[in-house]
Amino acid sequence: MEIIIKTDYEAACEEAARIILRAWKKRKSLVLGLATGRTPLGLYEKLISLHKKGEMDFSNVIAFSLDEYFGLDETHPQSFARYMDDHLYRHINIRPENIHRLSGRPAEIEEHCRAYERKIRSVGGIDIQVLGIGKNGHIGFNEPGSSLTSRTRLKSLTRETVEANAPLFKEEGEVPRFSLTMGIGTILESRMILLLASGEDKADAVARAAEGPLTAFVPASVLQLHPQAKCILDEEAASRLALKDYYRWTYENKEKFLARLT
Ligand code: PGA
Repeated sequence: MEIIIKTDYEAACEEAARIILRAWKKRKSLVLGLATGRTPLGLYEKLISLHKKGEMDFSNVIAFSLDEYFGLDETHPQSFARYMDDHLYRHINIRPENIHRLSGRPAEIEEHCRAYERKIRSVGGIDIQVLGIGKNGHIGFNEPGSSLTSRTRLKSLTRETVEANAPLFKEEGEVPRFSLTMGIGTILESRMILLLASGEDKADAVARAAEGPLTAFVPASVLQLHPQAKCILDEEAASRLALKDYYRWTYENKEKFLARLT
């Protein structure tokens, strides 16, 4: 796992956008896996701004959502479909047919999940998967204890997740108890993974994921197995890493080395 420590959230998002732009420039196309939540919002703003400045064209970009609440319509204000539309898709020139989502109301759950996996494979796999990290180390809705080889499936939400979401819904009965999520095995097949984390409240999860043992109790620790996983952090999220000076040093040297090549 490559650890990239930036001074603040803004700079971390800038770095993630720079990596995505660089990958897109090589082929003028890209398959992205995209996460929801608070963390990637700054990255999506940067991508929108790249598009508005004419630096990135999304007409050949294909996007897959990482997860969705089970039981919500696409139009529900708390659905991840709505989130992606509001925070990214409606501001860029991605083609509607290139937007792929997990449905919150699939006709047949298992078949829907299998079809999603088939769709990912049919476009050649995900080039870059964007991830956040939960305080408990989850990625997507792969909560602690999830199989490290899991595929896209229905997952129960933890009590903490359900309680944290409750204020966002008008009726208690509306609060989702389940989600559909890409599995950990699915995520690991992406060619590159960008995990973004910001803030002191993520520092413990980040340290356990990057420097702790590989364990299903910290699903993000599985990224230690991935050859191209980059963890982009602000200072607060990096604050509990034992080797943070070393990560800074290697990153600076790498940048200097790459600058000499270009
Ligand atoms: P957050 O969520 O970005 O809203 O903190 C991350 C996650 O739970 O995966």
